[in-house]
Amino acid sequence: MNLKDKTYLVVGGSHGIGAELVTQLTEAGAEVICWSRTEPENTSSKLRYSQVDILDHNNDLPTIEGKLHGLAYCPGSINLGSFPRLKLEAFEQDLELNLLGAVRVLQHCIKALSAAGADGGASVLLFSTVAVRVGLPFHASIAAAKGAVEGLVRSLAAEYAPKNIRFNAIAPSLTDTPLAAGLLADDKKREASAERHPLKRVGNPKETASTGVHLLSPNAAWITGQVIAIDGGMSALR
Ligand SMILES: NC(=O)c1ccc[n+]([C@@H]2O[C@H](COP(=O)([O-])OP(=O)(O)OC[C@H]3O[C@@H](n4cnc5c(N)ncnc54)[C@H](OP(=O)(O)O)[C@@H]3O)[C@@H](O)[C@H]2O)c1
Repeated sequence: MNLKDKTYLVVGGSHGIGAELVTQLTEAGAEVICWSRTEPENTSSKLRYSQVDILDHNNDLPTIEGKLHGLAYCPGSINLGSFPRLKLEAFEQDLELNLLGAVRVLQHCIKALSAAGADGGASVLLFSTVAVRVGLPFHASIAAAKGAVEGLVRSLAAEYAPKNIRFNAIAPSLTDTPLAAGLLADDKKREASAERHPLKRVGNPKETASTGVHLLSPNAAWITGQVIAIDGGMSALR
């Protein structure tokens, strides 16, 4: 894939799936802007990093000049607990990071995305979770927040289709990233998690990111308003 002359913003490109997105986008020749709280290890000359905490409303987001051909918003949470133990604050925090953070970034970047939309197309990638399509115990807070993300994706896909900006989401199941470290902390937990998936393993961030890069690229120019399951079959198979 050749993404030369394209510019992408990856929010949360320092770790996990976002870091893989940054690697694969820069390797394809794109210029990549990364916003996160800690600096990515990636030292590509195609990468520009700004320290940003998306939840810090005291600081303005960095200005994006010119055209933005794509944007991926990767911050997310796995905040699990039985319903009585999930306090209202947990629901608020999950909505704040997963939904409202994405809204804040999108409203900030929509002009730059529209400029690319008017000049061939732009693409936005958000992240949901398998727990929206499949009811899983103890996932009430994160499933509710990501369900809102899926609604946002479909609504904005409809609103911005005439401007040639595509909106899609990936809904992963358990993927081996820093976010999931607690759930994969030892062999026993890892085996139990693998066993829950038809393909008998957990996901890895490279394979999730490669679908993300496809959705962000002009190769996916006919795909919008979709939530793509990358979950080892968990949402579709018994
Ligand atoms: N991993 C899974 O099992 C799994 C399962 C289902 C859904 N998902 C979803 O997939 C997406 C990516 O997950 P992941 O596992 O790659 O997550 P991750 O390992 O936690 O990485 C998240 C990225 O977002 C950044 N970030 C977090 N909070 C931020 C903030 N306040 N401001 C700016 N940047 C922030 C982190 O960087 P800094 O810490 O440097 O800021 C990091 O680069 C998430 O939306 C997640 O909910 C993941």
